[in-house]
Amino acid sequence: MNRPTAPHTSCLAIVLAAGEGTRMLSSTPKVLHSIGGRSLIAHVLGAATDAGGAEIAVVVGPGRDDVAAEARKLVPQAQVFEQRERLGTAHAVLAARKAIEGGAGDILVMFADTPLVRAETLTALRAALRAGAAVAVLGFTPQDPAGYGRLVMTGDDLTSIVEEKDATAQQRAIGFCNGGLMALSGAHALTLLDRIGNANSKGEYYLTDAVAVARAMGLKAVAIETSEDDVRGINTKAQLAQAEAVLQGRLRAQAMDAGVTLVAPETVFLSSDTKLGRDVTIEPNVVFGPGVTVEDGAVIRSFSHLEGAHVGRGARVGPFARLRPGATLGTDVHIGNFVEVKQATIEDGAKANHLAYIGDARVGEGANIGAGTITCNYDGVDKHRTDIGKGAFIGTNSSLVAPVKIGDGAYIGSGSVVTRDVPADALMVERAEPAIKQGWAARFRAAKAARKKKS
Ligand code: UD1
Ligand code: MG
Repeated sequence: MNRPTAPHTSCLAIVLAAGEGTRMLSSTPKVLHSIGGRSLIAHVLGAATDAGGAEIAVVVGPGRDDVAAEARKLVPQAQVFEQRERLGTAHAVLAARKAIEGGAGDILVMFADTPLVRAETLTALRAALRAGAAVAVLGFTPQDPAGYGRLVMTGDDLTSIVEEKDATAQQRAIGFCNGGLMALSGAHALTLLDRIGNANSKGEYYLTDAVAVARAMGLKAVAIETSEDDVRGINTKAQLAQAEAVLQGRLRAQAMDAGVTLVAPETVFLSSDTKLGRDVTIEPNVVFGPGVTVEDGAVIRSFSHLEGAHVGRGARVGPFARLRPGATLGTDVHIGNFVEVKQATIEDGAKANHLAYIGDARVGEGANIGAGTITCNYDGVDKHRTDIGKGAFIGTNSSLVAPVKIGDGAYIGSGSVVTRDVPADALMVERAEPAIKQGWAARFRAAKAARKKKS
C-alpha cells in the first residue's frame, strides 16, 4: 500500500457508524461485515490512519458495543461516541463534539459503510484545506446519480450540496454528486456544524449543509473529484459483493506490481493483509484468508486455501492443499495435494506430498511424511503435540497418536499406529503377521459357483 505523505497539521477522523440500515438482512451489524478478510469499519480506520488521522473518533448507534469493540481492537486509543437518535449526518458528527473540541487542525468525516476510500483520496481532501478551503468534499460522477446529493458548482467553487429529495428538477439534472465523506477545517468545524438546521424534507441535520453555511460566512468550499469506487457505500449484500470485487481488483494489481505472478488474477482471492514476496507464483483458484505471508520464489498451486500461514522461500504448496492458522513452512518445503497443516512448523526441506493431516506438530528438517499420515492430535478433550525429528521417515498410512516424539532419522513402517516415543535412527513398525493361504481364492470361487448351479 502506498502511504502518501500526510500534511503536518493534526488530524481527527470522525467515522460515522450509527444509523444502521436493515437492508443487509443480517444479525451482524453492517459495518462488521468483511471484504478482503477485514471488517468494513477496519478498512475505513486503516485509510484514516494512513492519511494521518492520528486521532480517531467513532460514532456508533445506541448499544453498539460490538462496533465499538471492533474499532478499539484496531485503534486502541479511538474515542467512541454514541448517537442516541438518528437525526442526520451533521447530528452524528456533533455526537463527537468533545473530540472536535480537542482542536485538531483538520477534521475528516468518514462513513464506516464506505470502505474503499483510499488514503491518497483523503490526503487530497486535506490538501484542499491547506489550500484555503474550509470545507472540501469528494465529488464523483456516478453512472446513476439517483439518491445522491448534487454538487452545485460556480466555476471551481462549490456553492451548495442539494440532497436529491430537496432538489429541483434542474438540480437533479446535475451529474456531479457528493461522495459523502468530507474534510472540515478544525478552526471552523464547530461553528459550521452548530449553524446547520433541519428545515428540509427529511427533517434531518444534513452534514452537506456545511457547504452553504461556510459560503454564507464567506468561507471557501471545494469539491475534489474521485472515482465512484472510492465512495462506494454499502447497504446490501449485493453492494458488499461489488465492493469485494473492486477490492480484489486492487489487491491483485498491487501483488502483480510487487512482482508476483498471478496466472489467472481474476480467480485468486486475497486478503488485505496478504504478503507475497517477489517471484511468488500463484496458480488459478487460490484463496488467501487473513494473515498469510509467502516468501520469495514460492509456488502456490491451484485450489489451495491458506489462512494464518507462513510459507518459506521456494516452498511448494498444493494443488489442493490447506494451510490453517499456525502453519509455518520453512524454505523449500513441499506440501502436496490433499494435505492439511494446522499449528505446525514444517522445517526446511521437509515434505508431505500427499493426503496427510499435520496438526499441533513440528516436522524436522528434511523429514518425509508419507501419504495418509495423520497426527492424531485430539483425544476428544485436549490437543496434544507430535514432534518429528530431522530426517525422519514416516511410512504411508501411519497414525501418530499424540503426545508422541519421533527421533531424528527414525523410520516408521507403513500402517503403524505410533503410541510411544521412537528413538533417533530406530525403526518402529507395528503390523499383524500376514496370513497367506495358497489357492484360497480359487477354491472360494469354485464353491460359490457350485452352490449357484444347484439353486
Ligand atoms: C449521504 C449524503 C449525500 C451523499 C451520500 C453519498 C448527507 C445529508 N447526504 O447521503 O449527499 O451523496 O451520502 O453516499 O450527508 N449516519 C449516522 N447518523 C445519522 C445519519 C447517518 O451515523 O443520523 C451515518 C450512516 O450510518 C452512514 C453515513 O452517516 O454511514 C451516511 O448516511 P446515509 O443515510 O447513508 O446518507 P445518504 O442518504 O446516503
Ligand atoms: Mg448512504
